[in-house]
Amino acid sequence: MAPHFDIITIFPGTFAGVIGESILGRAIASGLLEVELTDLRDFTTDKHRSVDDRPYGGGPGMVFKPEPVFDAVEHVLARRPVREGDGRQRRILLTPQGRRLDQSLLRELAQAEHIVLVCGHYEGFDERIVQGLGCEQVSIGDFVLSGGELPAMVILDGVARLLPGALGHPESSDQESFEHGLSDHPPYTRPAEFRGMRVAEVLLSGTHAEIERWRRSEARSRTRALRGDLLAADRDASSMLGSAGTVRARPRTRAGSDVEDVGGEYEGPAGAGRSTRARTLEATRHCPARRTRDSADAADERAPEQRSGDFTVPEGRDPAADPQPAHAPVSARLAADRHRTGGTHPGTSGRRE
Ligand code: ADE
Repeated sequence: MAPHFDIITIFPGTFAGVIGESILGRAIASGLLEVELTDLRDFTTDKHRSVDDRPYGGGPGMVFKPEPVFDAVEHVLARRPVREGDGRQRRILLTPQGRRLDQSLLRELAQAEHIVLVCGHYEGFDERIVQGLGCEQVSIGDFVLSGGELPAMVILDGVARLLPGALGHPESSDQESFEHGLSDHPPYTRPAEFRGMRVAEVLLSGTHAEIERWRRSEARSRTRALRGDLLAADRDASSMLGSAGTVRARPRTRAGSDVEDVGGEYEGPAGAGRSTRARTLEATRHCPARRTRDSADAADERAPEQRSGDFTVPEGRDPAADPQPAHAPVSARLAADRHRTGGTHPGTSGRRE
């Protein structure tokens, strides 16, 4: 069943761009997920349509009032009764204090049927909202934004690309950064040499096993250089598993992944030639060799439309020069909502539909 997102916000119009374009727009248009926007102010009762009030006990800023949030959340829940407690329904308040969003949380959300995202503002939500609605809190990082709309968009985008069929080719999302606990290998596209910087020869070899080994090695080096915290966390997890007496079938295999952490760097097919990216580039400057476009084509056996990530690139168009699709479909949902609300808030669903 396609996940249904209900997003409760005081700024529904801010979502028009992200839900109408690119992978997310296409996923919505093709029915892989549904997004419905609800304007929190439709659930206010005073003439100013106020959603916030001053904090009890004093202090700066304003706090989201319980009444409109309870009414809005209960309204969207009543529209889609889903059995509670088995992860099929998630109620999320976006706050900087929440559980940190990561790839595993996105995977959990991609399994859910109904996800309610409530975008906060100001000094946050009255605590009774958190307790009384049984919401979890999610943060996209240890920094404070002016509201939960951007975090909600981040979640939408991250979930959409995990849905089967959302990306151009099925293996794309599980080959991505963090899917195996490592950051990604460095990507290269044509030309093979640019301003004296040449791509690693192994990438031009067409030998898939070697390319795979090189990529894993590069991913490890890159993770070590840029995200040592991931490896440290993984080591901690592994040693906890070890001390709990768990038998580790493959020594030095990363916990929860099938990537073998063998440590060292890729040494080339015959163990010759050091090949981290820095060395490749350094060597190239000393010894610039030239490749023709034909040999680059021969090295890449994938169909032309698979060569540029998520976008289809017509034959003859340079993917690096213009990675945008020629046209991005506007989401069916957005168009339908605009029609329903008479074009006021794009994608806003009113209280009484
Ligand atoms: N609202 C404000 N800052 C936020 C953050 N970092 N994550 C989620 N929601 C937020």
